[in-house]
Amino acid sequence: MGCNPDPVVDTIDPVVLDPTPFNLDIRHFPEPQWPEDNPLTEAGVQLGRMLFHEKRMSGDNTQACADCHAQQRNFSDVAVFSAGIQGIEGPRHSMVLSNLAWHVHHDGNHGHGFFWDGRAATLREQVLDPIEDGLEMDEDLESLTVELSAFEQYRHAFTRAFGTDEINAERMAKALEQFLLTMVSNNSKYDQWLLGETSLTESEERGRQLFFDEFDPFNPEVSGADCAHCHSGLDFASHQFGNNGLDADEDMEDIGYMAVTGEDADRGKFKTPSLRNVMVSAPYMHDGRFANIDEVIDHYDHGAVSSTSMDPMMQYNVDYGLGLDSQDRSDLIAFLHTLTDSDFLSHPAFSSPH
Ligand code: HEC
Ligand code: HEC
Repeated sequence: MGCNPDPVVDTIDPVVLDPTPFNLDIRHFPEPQWPEDNPLTEAGVQLGRMLFHEKRMSGDNTQACADCHAQQRNFSDVAVFSAGIQGIEGPRHSMVLSNLAWHVHHDGNHGHGFFWDGRAATLREQVLDPIEDGLEMDEDLESLTVELSAFEQYRHAFTRAFGTDEINAERMAKALEQFLLTMVSNNSKYDQWLLGETSLTESEERGRQLFFDEFDPFNPEVSGADCAHCHSGLDFASHQFGNNGLDADEDMEDIGYMAVTGEDADRGKFKTPSLRNVMVSAPYMHDGRFANIDEVIDHYDHGAVSSTSMDPMMQYNVDYGLGLDSQDRSDLIAFLHTLTDSDFLSHPAFSSPH
């Protein structure tokens, strides 16, 4: 047959398993623990992206994940309570979605988890929950698989990702998990500064020190705001559950983590969120009670109230207040602005493929 170029190879059936690994550049972040039974592939990530932006995922075909998790908002929602289908509001504000690969789950009561109250132990378990949640998308998985199977585009995408055109809950969860794991935000000005590529302005640098320095009401000269006490590490999130003094016991409408662990000591604890891209993700907190960053700073400065499971460190805030003056506040905000990663917020890899 010689070397006669065979035109058939160019038109090879596109509907076959495509195991091409997805190359994710994690830059200066440490290697996370990838799910061993769900390696990231080009085809899997692409399918996850289709599903994330798919309105058919909801019972009345009006709502995609992306409707409550908008990319330019760090995959969060402008609404205080994200309205699910038929405009029914859930009890909690949407969460930001970035660097989820580093939200490691440990077994045991006080490990990490997903949702404000940590009720999902793994990302895969998490992703199917909103689909079946009556308040969110209210779709039953059975009819969803039937619905998607009607589209050749999906049958092909499932085949490329998983080898056959069978559409089931596990495959949807795995594809969504792959896509969510690729949402890495680490190209903010702060990252560029860490890598020695840029310098911080005087105000940003003062804000950085306030953010990281310990709060010491007895030595106001050296006292910082100690945000890093809880918003720590490269993702500015401990991913632990904490109570930052939002409500006294008797005013607490949502007991958060306590509903999951059953432990009194977890009353009113919520997942400590990442502060990456925080300046674009208002409103803030599990119930979206703060409309802007000024209200957040007011809270930590002089608005916290004691409750039985409040982080003991917050008692200083309650007793003395942070004592931030207007210069401190604007410096702190200038620093928070350095956590904005515009590349991530507008990257076409995360936008709708439809
Ligand atoms: C109606 C709005 C809405 C829709 C639609 C929605 N979400 Fe969410 N999402 C939320 C809310 C609200 C929370 C927090 C819920 C809670 O803690 O009880 C959340 C939490 C999450 C979390 C947890 C993040 C963390 O750090 O723990 C992930 C992941 C997530 N959603 C992914 C998805 C995916 C994937 C879809 C589509 C299958 C989706 N969401 C659809 C509103 C929505
Ligand atoms: C004692 C631990 C602790 C300290 C100290 C702390 N935080 Fe928080 N922070 C939390 C927890 C826990 C939450 C989530 C609370 C909730 O929603 O119920 C949170 C939520 C936030 C949010 C909302 C993010 C979102 O996605 O809704 C912002 C913004 C924030 N903190 C900024 C700060 C700043 C700025 C400082 C320093 C002045 C600070 N935090 C100090 C624990 C802490």
